[in-house]
Amino acid sequence: MMKRTSAGLITLVSLIPFVLGQAQEFAQCGGIGFTGATTCVAGTTCQVLNPYFSQCLPGSSSAPSSGPTTTPPANPTSSSHSSTPTSTPTTTPAAGNPFEGHNIFLSPPYASEVAAAVPQFTNSATAALAAKVADIPTFIWLDEVAKVPSLGTYLSAASAQGKSSGTPSLVQIVVYDLPDRDCSADASNGEFTIADNGQANYFNYIDQIVAQIKPFPDVRVVAVIEPDSLANLVTNLGVAECAAAQTTYLACITYAMQQLTTVGVIQYLDAGHAGWLGWPANLQPAAQLFNSLYTSAGSPSGVRGLATNVANYNALVAASPDPITSGNPNFDEMLYIEALAPLLDPFPAHFIVDQGRSGVQDIRSQWGDWCNVLGAGFGTQPTLNTGSSFIDSIVWVKPGGECDGTSNSSAPRFDPHCALSDATPNAPQAGTWFQAYFETLVEKANPPI
Ligand SMILES: *[C@@H]1O[C@H](CO)[C@@H](O)[C@H](O)[C@H]1NC(C)=O
Repeated sequence: MMKRTSAGLITLVSLIPFVLGQAQEFAQCGGIGFTGATTCVAGTTCQVLNPYFSQCLPGSSSAPSSGPTTTPPANPTSSSHSSTPTSTPTTTPAAGNPFEGHNIFLSPPYASEVAAAVPQFTNSATAALAAKVADIPTFIWLDEVAKVPSLGTYLSAASAQGKSSGTPSLVQIVVYDLPDRDCSADASNGEFTIADNGQANYFNYIDQIVAQIKPFPDVRVVAVIEPDSLANLVTNLGVAECAAAQTTYLACITYAMQQLTTVGVIQYLDAGHAGWLGWPANLQPAAQLFNSLYTSAGSPSGVRGLATNVANYNALVAASPDPITSGNPNFDEMLYIEALAPLLDPFPAHFIVDQGRSGVQDIRSQWGDWCNVLGAGFGTQPTLNTGSSFIDSIVWVKPGGECDGTSNSSAPRFDPHCALSDATPNAPQAGTWFQAYFETLVEKANPPI
């Protein structure tokens, strides 16, 4: 089963600038354009991570940089974007919207989970709705190497479906097995560690995925690449584990982009969400990382763009700003994408957006809350009707109903976020089925299932 990580994403959204006198732990406390509090609460110190971002990190004042950056350094590179004409990429990006003209293959593991969940509903009308969820495509998470062989089985079935229907199949996967994965969280549960041959193990994991895909050129594979990883490199290099993982992450993601391109995989690199990289101070550093990584990898033609809001709860277009987003003009995914897209060059400015659990808004106490958020409902179903030429498709990346983490504080891998008042109580271990949560997602689906 998926470990907590597939959803446990994004604790870091505590990166929210705080408008009261003192910035909270992990909140932004300085950087170019930042206007919020520049002193941190007791027990934390404001540390400069880059010219755009200083953050209140645990620890007292022995920290290297004593204060936030209040003076912008000379010239951030933003001017180069407006003056640079649209250039012709050296490698032709994947042509057109990859979702067009394909039938999306339904995830077999999720279909099994839903099939087992339906008989447990006490209300037959709701059970009938729940059964329909099995027909909504979600992504298949390859979050450990042991799951890779099943990919060939799915591709074989997808190939057969394509041949019999006359419309080619599209299989959606998440590549998610970096060594020292989830470097900024307490309970990072990746199977590989950098200290123990992690990079070689990761390359082998990618090689195995490539080998599974190669025999099925008739099936289109779309992949989300490594949720959280690059966003952590933008904002969390002040976390020792992230700083230590930086070189390996970059090498591993470069290898994944290049090798997956050889078998035609259409790739979207994970780009966090509006409440993370969408803060104005983070946009330029994020774009710079995506642009430079893409260029240094040789502009792999399989790379199509970015995936946002994976396993999170943000609206694509919020009817009104959730109060927890206060201070960020990019308070929904559309605003975030429209702010980031113009900064992407040569990185291709195409996006997919997870809306699997975004049906109900204004349910979180803080933007950084991510664990089994109470009252969430399934969101807009996957569609190519996205309202933006930047967005290829609305997707469901997170399989709704799989638990984000246990609420039992005595259990292994407990994360305090999973016991907050806006997290659903009585939650089982991460990755296991959380029936009560699934039932709420169905009941509160918006639009209705
Ligand atoms: C919480 O976890 C502990 C340790 O695994 C276990 O002994 C206990 O029974 C669990 N409590 C509940 C309510 O599940």
